[in-house]
Amino acid sequence: MARRRQVYEGKAKILYEGPEPGTLIQYFKDDATAFNAQKKGTISGKGVLNNRISEHLFTALGRIGVPTHFIRRLNMREQLIRQVEIIPLEVIVRNVAAGSLSKRLGIEEGTQLPRTIIEYCLKDDALGDPLVADEHIACFGWASQDEMNDIADMAIRVNDFLSGMFAAIGIRLVDFKLEFGRLWENDYARVILADEISPDGCRLWDLQSNEKLDKDRFRLDLGGEIEAYQQIARRLGLLPEGDANMVLDMETHRKKRGK
Ligand code: TMP
Repeated sequence: MARRRQVYEGKAKILYEGPEPGTLIQYFKDDATAFNAQKKGTISGKGVLNNRISEHLFTALGRIGVPTHFIRRLNMREQLIRQVEIIPLEVIVRNVAAGSLSKRLGIEEGTQLPRTIIEYCLKDDALGDPLVADEHIACFGWASQDEMNDIADMAIRVNDFLSGMFAAIGIRLVDFKLEFGRLWENDYARVILADEISPDGCRLWDLQSNEKLDKDRFRLDLGGEIEAYQQIARRLGLLPEGDANMVLDMETHRKKRGK
């Protein structure tokens, strides 16, 4: 089989040309970065878990009518997605103060916010993904006003749905990052949810203990990264109870069989 063409490589994923025009294959790596890639590492097995967790969340969101790029999972590390033109914004939704919000505004981490906040950062690694205002987005044409309205509506819907879904399994959805893309149909572009939703781009705390079950374990050198990601997958019902290494064992097993 001809080697497929790589379209893009990001910090945690690779995109390959898909089997049909308008599709791509999204491959989840084990690489982890933080602080704009100043800190680098690998979390062995992370890609497998994020592929599965993101599949689960995108499928559930699709069922409630949120349009997404997800088509289907292909294997342990890959999913088939619709090709979109990525809108160069990181859309951050916050329910509880943490991370850069706490640092920037001096609000103690863990403070419940009186209302949900949506922030926008320009997706530009060289600039360190700076926070931008609606004014900048309009001025520089990164997204139209109609697109921004759709993005904000979808972000709130995603937040309401996922907050409930995580609360039901004893997890607080503190904050998360979304990315959106334009799906072109003739001359008309529709905005749909793209990228991934996984513990890499969410803060997920145990509701009772406030234990961090996300990439902050890597960012803050807390250790136990993969166990935290497994815990999320297990509570979502994606890993059998008590068999923490199942996913990784399955991958090793398949590789041995040459699949
Ligand atoms: P922050 O508090 O560092 O701004 O992060 C807010 C949320 O967005 C947090 O859940 C992590 C996620 N995030 C990403 O997914 N990618 C990024 O590049 C950054 C800065 C944050």
